[in-house]
Amino acid sequence: MPYALITGASGGIGLAIARELASRKHDVLLVARSGDKLSAAVDAIKKDFGVSASYLSLDLELPDAVAKVFAWVNQNGFEVSILINNAGYASWGTVKDVPTEEFLGMMQLNMVTLAGMCKTFMPHLERHKKSYILNIASTAAYQAVPTLTTYAATKAFVLLFTRGLSREMAGTPVSVSCLSPGPTSTGFIDRARLGIIKDRAEKFSMTPEAVAKTAVSGMLAGKMEIIPGFTNWLSSKLAEIVPKGIPEGIARNLYKV
Ligand SMILES: NC(=O)c1ccc[n+]([C@@H]2O[C@H](COP(=O)([O-])OP(=O)(O)OC[C@H]3O[C@@H](n4cnc5c(N)ncnc54)[C@H](OP(=O)(O)O)[C@@H]3O)[C@@H](O)[C@H]2O)c1
Repeated sequence: MPYALITGASGGIGLAIARELASRKHDVLLVARSGDKLSAAVDAIKKDFGVSASYLSLDLELPDAVAKVFAWVNQNGFEVSILINNAGYASWGTVKDVPTEEFLGMMQLNMVTLAGMCKTFMPHLERHKKSYILNIASTAAYQAVPTLTTYAATKAFVLLFTRGLSREMAGTPVSVSCLSPGPTSTGFIDRARLGIIKDRAEKFSMTPEAVAKTAVSGMLAGKMEIIPGFTNWLSSKLAEIVPKGIPEGIARNLYKV
């Protein structure tokens, strides 16, 4: 039975997607850094859903991370028919002020690793009658977001990379989708040091489980773009058609340093 491989699956949206897929009887492979959380997640998935599950503890910011994941999959004889590129984070602050390590690491993880995983795993995915890639962007992909400038730009990359890849793979067994969540109650805000918007964001936040349900249904239905939640969908679509100064001005005030 082929597996669904999910990055960033030790918590948040990635874990919720892994559990949603397992509840639909897909075997799962989880990758993230926190071995203890992954081990607990794998045990719970096996117990709750009776599917096969394994994990790899790995820092996906490392330049050879994709090769390491690929080697692990092949050495264990796993077949991958669903690839979920979810691992990612934001670092709040002006470009001038964000820590250089995060500035570079975020670009590596959010863009380079994600694109590398798609390219490297394509031969696996093409072997199956039907297979899926789901890349996680954000509603921030639809406009520039001052003080989340680099993060929003990485997510714009994810959106356009995924749309392009989806068109390239049309007519093949590989369906390619992009998920763009809005605020979701996970560890994301704390990792980004976005305490300034925590209270406001929580009022509008979706649960990771609700995001995961929409994500998996949309992916299996072959949707190219999936934006969970009506408000998130509307704000993203409006940002595409109104003059960019409007949403970017609103964002500038929202995330002001
Ligand atoms: N939550 C939101 O409001 C929101 C909105 C829009 C888009 N998103 C996107 O949704 C995705 C999931 O985020 P989340 O909200 O679920 O955040 P989260 O709770 O912080 O989860 C992030 C996941 O990525 C993993 N990860 C982070 N850095 C990693 C690294 N260097 N190597 C391997 N794994 C790494 C984390 O595990 P370890 O720490 O164990 O490595 C964790 O499993 C991200 O791409 C994020 O940009 C989130």
